Amino acid sequence: MRIKEIKGYEVLDSRGNPTVAARVILENGAEGFSISPSGASTGFFEAHELRDGDKTRYRGMGVKRAVENINGEINKKLCGFCVENQSQLDRILIDLDGTENKARLGANAILAVSLAAAKAAANGLKIPLYRYLGGINAKVMPRPMMNILNGGAHAANNIDIQEFMIMPILTETFAESLRVCSEIYHTLGKILKEKGKSCGVGDEGGFAPNLESDTDALDLICDAIDKSGYTDKVKLCLDVASSEWYKDGVYCMPKRNRTLETAELIDYYQTLIGKYPIISIEDGCAEEDWTGWGSLTNSLGAKIQLVGDDLFVTNTKRLMKGIENNSANAVLVKTNQIGTLSETMDLIRMASKSGYKSVISHRSGESEDTTIADLAVATNAGQIKTGAPCRSDRVSKYNRLLVIEDEIG
Ligand code: PGA
Ligand code: ZN
Repeated sequence: MRIKEIKGYEVLDSRGNPTVAARVILENGAEGFSISPSGASTGFFEAHELRDGDKTRYRGMGVKRAVENINGEINKKLCGFCVENQSQLDRILIDLDGTENKARLGANAILAVSLAAAKAAANGLKIPLYRYLGGINAKVMPRPMMNILNGGAHAANNIDIQEFMIMPILTETFAESLRVCSEIYHTLGKILKEKGKSCGVGDEGGFAPNLESDTDALDLICDAIDKSGYTDKVKLCLDVASSEWYKDGVYCMPKRNRTLETAELIDYYQTLIGKYPIISIEDGCAEEDWTGWGSLTNSLGAKIQLVGDDLFVTNTKRLMKGIENNSANAVLVKTNQIGTLSETMDLIRMASKSGYKSVISHRSGESEDTTIADLAVATNAGQIKTGAPCRSDRVSKYNRLLVIEDEIG
């Protein structure tokens, strides 16, 4: 299964901004195609997304240079390479780039090729991607951590917390979990409508109404859970995305202009956890606030899941530091934060060895690409965060998981 040709494309993501796609074509005729996602509340330490900066096209956001890197250098280097050797292929891409954060060729170019290569290999072997990546051990369907109400950088409303998510904890199949979440989502829409609130949605498909406060949002969601008949069966998860708030050592919630010291922020979470069935908080402290993360984990780590997204940026070096310092107890996994499939899988392995949970995640800028659905099953991660049951960029992952569940029983 040698590579015959690699082609790059400039395509659009779910926000209508350019992103990079790659097709890997093998000598035996099999192909793989993948599209890189793109974040909005991006972590400072993420791998570099290469954009043209040419203001005459797509407001400077074009990715022609990244595409040229695929069609030129990357294609030349990998032509004839055996595609099954994924870790070596990824190593070649990393070395060819030559920078610490994939800034020269672009993590968006490198990731699209890395994922397309794995898909070409799976297609060449005529097995599903989850089976190719996870072998006979790929067997755990993830629980959805479903974003149904959006604030922060993902919505033009007055809510500071970025994501309010629901997670069914007693369902026995993925299909059942999805049904429960979808019912709650629609009930929430009905409640908002009855209250005369907007039912417009944010980037990840969650509703984005103007509300009085973050607790107002939590009350509405609990009401939707109760009215749907799932009290005690569905819990809440938050992505605070607090790196967006952090400046000069304090947290300033931008939309309500409220400034909190780290200890006050942790007290705020304590209060929320006391009042609402919250089982997971993501990015409760900022990406640079390692001390804050230590206190947060000491205070809440035994009670709930604390997920590092901007903190770890899917990077084994940062996760190792977190493990050594007892920061968080779970890691968010976003392929484009690190830029290759092998590095992503290395991180999940490191997390699991250290007792950290992994949550496989989309980005706020997505596409029809469903790789993360297969990745979640391949790695038995057990949790997936891929938005509301609204907008095809989100629903495509859920639909892929329904098909996988049918295949693996
Ligand atoms: P992003 O948001 O894709 O805009 O970074 C998702 C998240 O913070 O989890
Ligand atoms: Zn996040």
